[in-house]
Amino acid sequence: MPNLFTPFTLKGVTVRNRIAMSPMTMYRSVDGRMDDYHVSYLGARAAGGFGLIFPEQLAITPDGRTTVSCGGIYDESQLEGLARVCSLITELGGVPAIQLGHTGRKGSVVTPWEGGYMLPPEHPNGWQTVAPSAIAYGGDLPYTPKELTVEEIHELYAAYAQSARWAAEVGFKWLEMHYAHGYLGAEFFSPLANQRTDEYGGSLENRTRFHLEALDAVREVWPEEYPLTMRLGSDDLHPDGARFDDAVVAIGWMKEHGLDLADLSLGFNTDAMQSNPFNDPGFMVERANRVRREVGIPVAASWNLGRPEAADSVIKDELIDMVFLGRPALANPHWPVWTARELGYDNPFALVPEDWGWWLRNFRGHQPSIGLPEPTESVVAAAATTNETRGVRVDSDAGVSEAA
Ligand SMILES: Cc1cc2nc3c(=O)[nH]c(=O)nc-3n(C[C@H](O)[C@H](O)[C@H](O)COP(=O)(O)O)c2cc1C
Repeated sequence: MPNLFTPFTLKGVTVRNRIAMSPMTMYRSVDGRMDDYHVSYLGARAAGGFGLIFPEQLAITPDGRTTVSCGGIYDESQLEGLARVCSLITELGGVPAIQLGHTGRKGSVVTPWEGGYMLPPEHPNGWQTVAPSAIAYGGDLPYTPKELTVEEIHELYAAYAQSARWAAEVGFKWLEMHYAHGYLGAEFFSPLANQRTDEYGGSLENRTRFHLEALDAVREVWPEEYPLTMRLGSDDLHPDGARFDDAVVAIGWMKEHGLDLADLSLGFNTDAMQSNPFNDPGFMVERANRVRREVGIPVAASWNLGRPEAADSVIKDELIDMVFLGRPALANPHWPVWTARELGYDNPFALVPEDWGWWLRNFRGHQPSIGLPEPTESVVAAAATTNETRGVRVDSDAGVSEAA
């Protein structure tokens, strides 16, 4: 039975545990580039024990960014920063992963803390957005996107392929297509945003054509031994939007087109969602597990899985294969170490670089002053019954070990 610290092998890539830092847009790039800021915060998560580490969604074209300060992989000038990110993550034992995306009708906005509203195409920091259909998102995003022509859709595949080539060149070993969160892939999938009458709209088959063709374009250039995955906006929580039953069928088709893992999320194609799961722990897990069972493909999920017991149990119960953490990864770069201690796994400090780990294990001193919360009482009590000397329970199932 796997647990949160069991290594995970997909294709030719082994991740040291089941914990991913989920992609998170930082709004800190100049001309789409990554710099010291990105190298340091991503390196910190690798040093803190995360197995798979994503920078933010990286745009395949300049108008595929969310704001002018978002990252991209559409220009050679962006490669040096990305190579630095990959190199540090790899050196510290993590696997560098890339999320490729295009924001479609949700681009040309200002940062969330400036209000997140949309800028008109003529604004110096705005642009003419594109989408499957000329339908504005509405609310704070009022400007109507231009409907993509078939030729322009095909040009996007070429952009995906170029970005994927560069991604492999700079050292990424895992690639996720962003088809969720109201961005271009989610828009094609949702009847709320896609009302085309050609072969890219209407039936489920047509609304999934973009995803399959983009996967084909990437699979052709992305090394066969590296995982090709995607995050799908699998449900709009709206009667006229994307439906989960359809997502299960579509993921089956994607599997036939070379998909190695499905990361399940929501559509976010409308503000008028008819249910509000956002306070519920692990609310995507059940849906992800259905995909795992019915499609027979490894799955990942994020959303409210930051409690150690919750994250561990969804792996132990074999509901999902990887836990993608967003906010917990922002809040605590050492979330994996803290969690390993909290759950009583043996040798949590094997997750940090060996030179730190040695000191944390061996330097005499006052355990509570180490800077991480001490394991809770139940863990300490369990340790007492197993005679473990370092104050944590020995768990023979644990993937965390000296050699990890
Ligand atoms: C600051 C921030 C930026 C995000 N940017 C992205 C992104 O670029 N791509 C993406 O797929 N999800 C993005 N997300 C969503 C997260 O990856 C994650 O799915 C979500 O936060 C739910 O997981 P959590 O409950 O662990 O935070 C973002 C979330 C946050 C908090």
